[in-house]
Parts: sequence; C-alpha cells; structure tokens
Amino acid sequence: MIYMSKTSDFRPYHEFTRFEPSEMVQRAEDFYTLLSKRRSVRSFSSEEIPDEVLDYAIKCAGTAPNGANKQPWHFVIVKDPQKKREIRIAAEKEEHLFYNERAPEDWLADLEQFDTNEHKPFIEEAPALIAIFSQSYHIKESGKQEKHYYVKESVGIATGMLITALHQAGLATLTHTPSPMGFLNELLGRPKHEKAFLLLVCGYPKEGVEVPNIQKKPLNHIRTII
Ligand SMILES: Cc1cc2nc3c(=O)[nH]c(=O)nc-3n(C[C@H](O)[C@H](O)[C@H](O)COP(=O)(O)O)c2cc1C
Repeated sequence: MIYMSKTSDFRPYHEFTRFEPSEMVQRAEDFYTLLSKRRSVRSFSSEEIPDEVLDYAIKCAGTAPNGANKQPWHFVIVKDPQKKREIRIAAEKEEHLFYNERAPEDWLADLEQFDTNEHKPFIEEAPALIAIFSQSYHIKESGKQEKHYYVKESVGIATGMLITALHQAGLATLTHTPSPMGFLNELLGRPKHEKAFLLLVCGYPKEGVEVPNIQKKPLNHIRTII
C-alpha cells in the first residue's frame, strides 16, 4: 500500500517529452550554441520592445524549481522614463561610493577588463528594466507570516531562466547590481519583506556595441566525472 498524506494531490506527468538519444544530443548542442551567443551588453538602443516578450520571459522565470514551491520572487517591469531616471540617479549614487570608497583594490582591478565606472546611462537608455525581488516570507491574508526556504537559490535559478528566455526571444540583457539596492524598494513601492535581488536591463544592443573579449572556462575545467 502506498502511503499518501491527507494533503497530497498527485497527477500523471503527461507533459514530459522523451527523445531518442541522438536527438537529445542534437537538442543539447543546439541549446548550447544558442546560449553561447548570450553576452551582457552595457549600451542599449532605446527602441521599444514587445511587452509580451517580457511577460512570457517572466512566466518562464515563474516555472523555476524553488524551495517547497513557495515561489519567493516578484518581478517589476519599469518602462516609465521618469522612474528609470530616478533609478539611475539612485544607482549612480551607490556606484559612486562603490568605485571611490567601498570597493577593495582587487575588486576594482578585476573590473578593469569591463571598463565599467560609476556612470550608468544604460539604465535610462534601455526600454525596460526588470527589478527582481526575493521574498524571505509571505504574509497570508490572515496576517500570519509563512516562511520561505532556499530563497537565494530559488531566485537565482529563476533569474537564470529569465535571462535565458529573454536571450532566446532576441533581447539582450545586463545583470546589474548597484549595491546596496534598498533604494529599489522605495522607488518601486515594494514591501519590507522583499529584498532587491538584482536589476536586469533589457533591450536591443546599441548599434555597433562591443563586448569585453573574455573567455568561458572549457568543459574540462568546470566538469568532473567520477
Ligand atoms: C550577480 C551578478 C552581478 C553583476 N553585476 C554587474 C554590474 O553591476 N555591472 C555590470 O556591468 N555587470 C554586472 N554583471 C555582469 C558580469 O560582469 C558578466 O555577466 C560577466 O562578466 C560575464 O560576461 P557575460 O555575461 O557577457 O558572459 C553581473 C553579473 C552577475 C551574475
């Protein structure tokens, strides 16, 4: 007899699709080829992008595996030019402190190859920002707090899926972390139990954009078979 707790509710997993091994390898290679073309860009065209692409990409993020299915995330799409301006001003204030006071020498040395500085024009140039918030707990209708688990891991996985979805739809992104990001709660009206996780800048790359000529570690450096 299979023990089932009173609250469990299972159903057949009809959606799973199985492929022949050769087709699996082809699909894996094709997906790698697609992902290997993703790069962070730091200069965006201000051309509009379809709202539906952002919505579907966020729906993709919402499918992510996560601790006890609490789905501890919230995504705020910012398109309003005035709000983007306010975010840029606040981010540049933090970045000024980072580059001039807070960052240790070795961190600044590691950043040299990216040619980044305290100025963040892309925050205003790009047609959309997605501010990602993590939720350490949820407030139920009764007012009671419900704990969330593995919050950072869950939001990190969802964010990776979001970036991947945007890339495969044909949008470029920049993962931006003007730390600390508490100003995003204030500017975007998010509650205290949410923590800004990162700011994803989305749009088309500005024409002629260049990216740092950096390399990814080869497979034999990042994988061990035992
Ligand atoms: C958590 C995280 C924070 C990052 N923060 C910044 C940032 O604040 N500014 C920036 O220009 N790039 C930032 N990046 C982008 C990284 O520099 C970039 O992903 C890395 O150099 C690899 O380049 P690629 O994304 O083109 O593969 C961040 C990336 C991650 C994952």
